[in-house]
Amino acid sequence: MESLFPDFRAGKSKDTISSPIKSSQLDKIKIIGGAQLNGIIPISGAKNCALKLMCASLLTGESVYFDNSPNSLRDMKSQVELLEYLGCVIKRESDVIAINASNIKTYIAPYDIVRKMRGSILVLGPLLARFGKAKVSLPGGCAIGTRPVDLHIKGLEELGAIITLEEGYINAKAPKSGLKGANIIFPKVSVGATENLMMAATLANGTTTLKNAAKEPEISDLGKCLIKMGAKIDGLGSDTIRIEGVKSLNGTHHSIMADRIETGTYIIAAGMAGGTVTLQNARISDLSAVLGHLCQAGIEVEQSGNNIIVSRETSRLQGVDIMTEPYPGFPTDLQAQFMAMLTIASGAGMVTETIFENRFMHVPELNRMGADITTQGNSAIVRGVEKLKGAEVMATDLRASVALVLAGLVAQGQTTVNRIYHLDRGYEDIVGKLGGVGANIKRVSSN
Ligand code: UD1
Repeated sequence: MESLFPDFRAGKSKDTISSPIKSSQLDKIKIIGGAQLNGIIPISGAKNCALKLMCASLLTGESVYFDNSPNSLRDMKSQVELLEYLGCVIKRESDVIAINASNIKTYIAPYDIVRKMRGSILVLGPLLARFGKAKVSLPGGCAIGTRPVDLHIKGLEELGAIITLEEGYINAKAPKSGLKGANIIFPKVSVGATENLMMAATLANGTTTLKNAAKEPEISDLGKCLIKMGAKIDGLGSDTIRIEGVKSLNGTHHSIMADRIETGTYIIAAGMAGGTVTLQNARISDLSAVLGHLCQAGIEVEQSGNNIIVSRETSRLQGVDIMTEPYPGFPTDLQAQFMAMLTIASGAGMVTETIFENRFMHVPELNRMGADITTQGNSAIVRGVEKLKGAEVMATDLRASVALVLAGLVAQGQTTVNRIYHLDRGYEDIVGKLGGVGANIKRVSSN
């Protein structure tokens, strides 16, 4: 790995990724629906893992290397911007990213960078653990609910941090002797809080136990990388994670797991459009709760080596009920896509969202395309229609945006999805990947 970046430690940050997406807020995607999908779609590394792994690199002064990294995503670029601001040297080439945090210059994560993406709150735990101080702006991200960070703050306080909130910033200081291991019981399951606390605890004095921890595969992947860096962690994938603090961590090389949400999105796309699609470098075991629902709806999914093969079993998909839950339950990040599928299924399906309170923003847009969806509180009844009709629609958050793309793939006529910059946050080359398997899809630049 080192040879990829021979002048790495001495040099300045360098970005050699070929043609990163240049997009404006006004770019659109146009789709003419009705094409079957056939062929191969490569699955990228998991965004929600990569963003946290980058923060983990702050825990050591040695270089860390990640491959299978979704480097062209807008969220990844935001995280690079933040880490470089802190003083990290970063090099990227193709799907490899190398980070060296030996020369951190500031412990302040400013509003202008953090507001773009919630994943940036994950610098808080590592900075505090390694340097004893951090000042991080309260984060932004998708507008899918209030999304507080109280669990992150309370957990760090239990590790001994003194935290104050000042003018929109979380100002955190560790005691002189460093963070101290503690027994932390989360009142609510949180992916981000589990990750922040797990990272902070790696360098704390003594043992930390995280109870009611989140069990998402991305957390286990982060934990595995931390273990390679010298951390002592057990219980990954269970609701009790135990971390024995160590004095320091070392550099490492880690290959980022496949993106299970991108995988699920393309499974649903193939099921809706028909045809046979092979998803390359994908893992169905991370989607076990979704698998049963897909099968019930009439989508056949089969693991073959490192690939997943998707086809539709029936001429028309069937309505199915889903309820989002923390892992291993049905992921909230696939709710909008599944709902897009239900709009054209035979019969009705009920969708219940239990994680975020404002995650039905795709509903009015899908209804503009002829869907029949009624919401009440955190549930939606989707009555399948024979055909959706192409329309101008507006993307409002990352997963809502991709749900509109899926609807466009099967709608009669042309669908124009506006404000696709949300998509650029989380889907690498979606136009190229869907176009490559036969979709009539193009990106229209506003320039
Ligand atoms: C992560 C994912 C996001 C996914 C979500 C749930 C990243 C970058 N994002 O977000 O794509 O939809 O997990 O699977 O990995 N909460 C609190 N207090 C807190 C923290 C969270 O009340 O301090 C609440 C949230 O508002 C939400 C619920 O807990 O209602 C779950 O949120 P959490 O699991 O923390 O999601 P994120 O880590 O933000």
